Amino acid sequence: MKKNLFVVVFSAIVVAVAGCAPKSETGTGTTTAGGGEILVGEYGSLTGPQGTFGTSTHNGIMMAIDEINANGGVNGKKIKVITEDDQSKQEEAATAVTKLISENNVVAVLGEVASSCSLAAAPICQQNKVPMITPSSTNPEITKKGDYIFRTCYTDDYQGHSLADYVLSEGVKNAALLTDVKSDYSQGLGHFFEERFTAGGGKIVARASYANGDSDFRAQLTTVKASNPQILFVPGYYTDIGQIAQQEHDLGLNAPLVGGDGWESPKLLEIGGKALEGSYYSNHYFYGDPAPMVHEFVQKYKDRFGATPDGMAALAYDAARVLADSLKRAKSTKGSDIRDAIAATKNFQGVTGTITIGPDRNAVGKKLVIEEVKGGQLTLKATVDPQKNVTGAATATH
Ligand code: PHE
Repeated sequence: MKKNLFVVVFSAIVVAVAGCAPKSETGTGTTTAGGGEILVGEYGSLTGPQGTFGTSTHNGIMMAIDEINANGGVNGKKIKVITEDDQSKQEEAATAVTKLISENNVVAVLGEVASSCSLAAAPICQQNKVPMITPSSTNPEITKKGDYIFRTCYTDDYQGHSLADYVLSEGVKNAALLTDVKSDYSQGLGHFFEERFTAGGGKIVARASYANGDSDFRAQLTTVKASNPQILFVPGYYTDIGQIAQQEHDLGLNAPLVGGDGWESPKLLEIGGKALEGSYYSNHYFYGDPAPMVHEFVQKYKDRFGATPDGMAALAYDAARVLADSLKRAKSTKGSDIRDAIAATKNFQGVTGTITIGPDRNAVGKKLVIEEVKGGQLTLKATVDPQKNVTGAATATH
């Protein structure tokens, strides 16, 4: 009996230690001659329902950091990334950043993708005065958590309003809304879409909700079908969207689905298949953009990972490069100095556009693209470019 107990306890410890061990990575073949290393933390959904978010983000970060290290690093030091998997869970996101800060002593943190996970981790970074940059969380509340919290993408007020303007311009007057009650992202984006759509004369003819992880959406879709909408706006994540599209199709509801950046995943078309034909969503960049910087990034990513980079990969590449650039300009690796340097970022040329950090610590004036599923592929449907709108410059898209 005693012996058994010992065995159980012992193996539990082994599992716990293995589970906690941070997966650390350095750039390819980089040992610094006496320069030392700068430790940067990454927390993300490498596993779980949003697994492709974390994986693409990790790839984008490592590509950027390897390039930076190969070019001499930052002020003579190489950057070392320490990665923690939060399994797509909010509680784990909080645990992950706590570990990165208190055990690994990272000087800054990159992450997360899903807004709810970034919202859980941001207060911890703020309390510890460790700057955090989210490459891709769009919920406006995140950067309000404090002056150490930044983002290098656009926010959901802009995203929701842009989508509403677009569907109105396409003649859509009646829309149904299906949101995820468990996701801050979904709730926020749904709200901003509705606000602008109704202000522009549109009508929400049906409203339904689900909870992330559900797999049966038939009851909600039956209600939606009865309201006969021109589109069904679903600000969700790819796994849910794929299933919703399939079930919508099975029920004979033909309105296209419209959504936001959360649809973006190499798995979207795999899960949704033909049922997604004619549906469209907003994203942060289009992989087929002929601009030299985008083209070069896509090619390098394909060569290294054997896949087309999705929006998260591009955003993560940009966020890691903005952080390295800030580390170069910072007076020291003290949190407050890094913070000041990130806040001073201006006109940084990224794959997802020009990045300037505004007074609210959000990237300002970034463009948005709308992609449509056509012939089983993602095609570019429209580009919303605030800089172009403001300046009227014909070259704004590149
Ligand atoms: N913007 C989404 C969120 O805040 C995450 C996301 C970004 C998903 C980019 C896909 C692509 O939750």
